[in-house]
Amino acid sequence: MGAVIELDNVSTIYEGERIPSLHNITLSIDEGEFVAVIGPNGAGKTTLLETINGLLPATSGTVRVFGKNVKTHGLEIRKKIGYVIQNFEIDSLTPFLSKDVVMMGRTGRIGLLRFPNQRDWERVFSNMQLLGIEGFKDRAVGKLSGGEFQKVLIARALTQEPDVLLLDEPFANLDVSSRKRVSDLLTTLNIERSLTMVFVSHDINAIPEACTRTIVLDQGRIVCQGELETVLSSSIVQQLWQRGKKHD
Ligand SMILES: Nc1ncnc2c1ncn2[C@@H]1O[C@H](COP(=O)(O)OP(=O)(O)O)[C@@H](O)[C@H]1O
Ligand SMILES: [Mg+2]
Repeated sequence: MGAVIELDNVSTIYEGERIPSLHNITLSIDEGEFVAVIGPNGAGKTTLLETINGLLPATSGTVRVFGKNVKTHGLEIRKKIGYVIQNFEIDSLTPFLSKDVVMMGRTGRIGLLRFPNQRDWERVFSNMQLLGIEGFKDRAVGKLSGGEFQKVLIARALTQEPDVLLLDEPFANLDVSSRKRVSDLLTTLNIERSLTMVFVSHDINAIPEACTRTIVLDQGRIVCQGELETVLSSSIVQQLWQRGKKHD
């Protein structure tokens, strides 16, 4: 299986900043991998996801997805990447219905010249069912709880039928049973459809068991990677963990 995501010596600096948020990251993720990226707040996890999908241009180095450079093929690449953004604040007056927001995941496939057909709607409803949110389909998203809206965003990303799924702190707003449901769903998608996934979390305890590799980011650098057990027992992660506790 070939590499789907390749970062070669990538650094990303936000406009107006001097210190890069990502420092010389070299990383290769194969098709079907389920990668967890962990690290404290501000480590660069969100920046890494936005650099992978080309929403944030890397300042130096090259990012390739599906073998193509995101700088030149960003639009084409993003059609095949599902991206579940972190902690999206939603205005309570937003009039879009849940089902319409999930349907937005199909925009890239439907194009601008046709309306959703019955097959598109079937896909929307079956993904809402997988997440247990079909009961909210006709509710305005502004009236959903944080956890319910989080599931709408996940359903939207699945409805896109992506080849790669990037998830930024997808469990942050979920209670224990919802976490289990979403974690099981991601595991099934990874195993049955070989969906390549990059999952970001500041919480070590939230990593689904099915993850095949864990990458630890700190201050924009990869400080450790490997199987979860190995990573957790490494001294560098123990130190990070202690440092985090002092700040709590
Ligand atoms: N738009 C921005 N402009 C300037 N600095 C930013 C911006 N977004 C994030 N940063 C900084 O980049 C670093 C990494 O942020 P981020 O990727 O959001 O971390 P994480 O997701 O791991 O919490 C932090 O120091 C953060 O303050
Ligand atoms: Mg983040």
